[in-house]
Amino acid sequence: MFVRLVSVALLMFATAATQAATLTVKAGESIQAAVKRAAPGDRIEVEPGIYKETVFIDKDRIELRGIVREGAWAVLDGEGQRNDGVLVAGHGVSVERLWVKRFKGNGIMTQGANNYRIAYNVVEGPTFYAIFPQFGKNGLVAHNIAFGSEDAAIYVGMSQNVDVVHNEVYESIIGIESENSHDILIENNYVHDNTIGIATTLLPGLPVKASDRLIVRNNVVARNNMKNTAPAGAITAGAPPGLGILVLGTDNTTVEGNLIRDNHGIGVMVSETNFLVTTPDDRMDPFPDGTQVLRNLFVNNGRQPQGTLKDLLEIAGVERGVDVLATGKGRDNCIAERAAVKTLGTRNFADCAASASSVAIASMQTPTPVVAAPYTADQKGRLTYLAVCTGCHTYNSKLIGPPMIVVKALYGKDAQKLADWIAKPTHKRPDYPQMPSQDYLPEEVRLSVARYILDELSH
Ligand code: HEC
Repeated sequence: MFVRLVSVALLMFATAATQAATLTVKAGESIQAAVKRAAPGDRIEVEPGIYKETVFIDKDRIELRGIVREGAWAVLDGEGQRNDGVLVAGHGVSVERLWVKRFKGNGIMTQGANNYRIAYNVVEGPTFYAIFPQFGKNGLVAHNIAFGSEDAAIYVGMSQNVDVVHNEVYESIIGIESENSHDILIENNYVHDNTIGIATTLLPGLPVKASDRLIVRNNVVARNNMKNTAPAGAITAGAPPGLGILVLGTDNTTVEGNLIRDNHGIGVMVSETNFLVTTPDDRMDPFPDGTQVLRNLFVNNGRQPQGTLKDLLEIAGVERGVDVLATGKGRDNCIAERAAVKTLGTRNFADCAASASSVAIASMQTPTPVVAAPYTADQKGRLTYLAVCTGCHTYNSKLIGPPMIVVKALYGKDAQKLADWIAKPTHKRPDYPQMPSQDYLPEEVRLSVARYILDELSH
């Protein structure tokens, strides 16, 4: 009896011990190999050194952490050849203190993962998206430095309950973008020298048809005048440089307490989706409703508007120095301290109530971790479409890759052929980049995403 008790106690001790293992990766070793050995709950510590690989984490609760020793970092280097730095598909994963550089697609991306934390990383370009959480709930993106992105440096796509705080982003087409997302807080970031500083967008052709409850607060948004170098035909190519903050079709967006200076086009622009993207989507309301522009400091914006912005201002007969520009329709928008702000097109804006403020909301993260049920094969197909493919494809317009209506016409009912192609894509269209291989997705997931696209996707 006594012996049995002891062995039970030992057993319990043993399980407790395996729950919190720390695996160390030394220079010259592989981080991915450590992920393979790790169990949920483990920490992986990466010693300073240069690691030339893609790290794919499809297990839950892995803590991936670089060790910085006397200024030497754990560097993940894509050498301008690999597509992704860190890809996260498990829930409750954290990625910290890595220096990620020169990945063609994404520096750090989450795909349908919940309860993530991306913090204290440096993500260096050239890259497409430096930090890209896509289709997940409850996340934190904090204290990162990201620069040199050919699209958004920090790109929150079709997500919910995410805080993007205390980051520095620069020299990218868009500094921080929230796209078709809900309950997002973008606060205390230093956003400078991009083409567009911060954008909250509602884009057509994506499965999420609304974007609501967004706070852009207490950021420094300065000198976002970088030349737009996005490839012709990309969705961002038409974006005029010089925009501090762009509210594009999103609802209940609060722009509060930001320092907005030296953006040559406009300080804050509130506009309908069509200003940038004209593809129709009749399931979507493209007009921004419920915008509040509250107590920002505007200094020296609008000195040198360019492109579509310049044309727009010229037509309106106002050429210089506009802090806040609103176009198109939209309901229940308001602005505070109107007299201190040079506005154009804000006639439909009410004066905000003196008490209007978002400061009571300190975080958009959920109070407890989100619990997700395991997925069936069909659900996995849809989830993979949402979490991976919509990073580059929409239903009916060109994002990075061709619209999915074109793909449906090409493949008809042949799901297997589609599943095979995405594992080994060839470069077919001269006016598009090559699509990165999706061969890290298991065969059956590739087949279910192919079936989802061909049999179900319709908008
Ligand atoms: C990083 C961006 C990116 C991601 C992510 C992406 N694609 Fe693509 N895709 C492209 C580009 C770019 C092309 C055009 C390539 C060409 O024509 O050379 C393309 C083309 C395609 C085609 C056309 C194939 C053909 O025969 O013409 C299919 C099918 C496709 N993608 C499916 C998918 C699926 C399914 C996913 C998700 C699992 C996905 N893509 C994820 C960028 C992407």
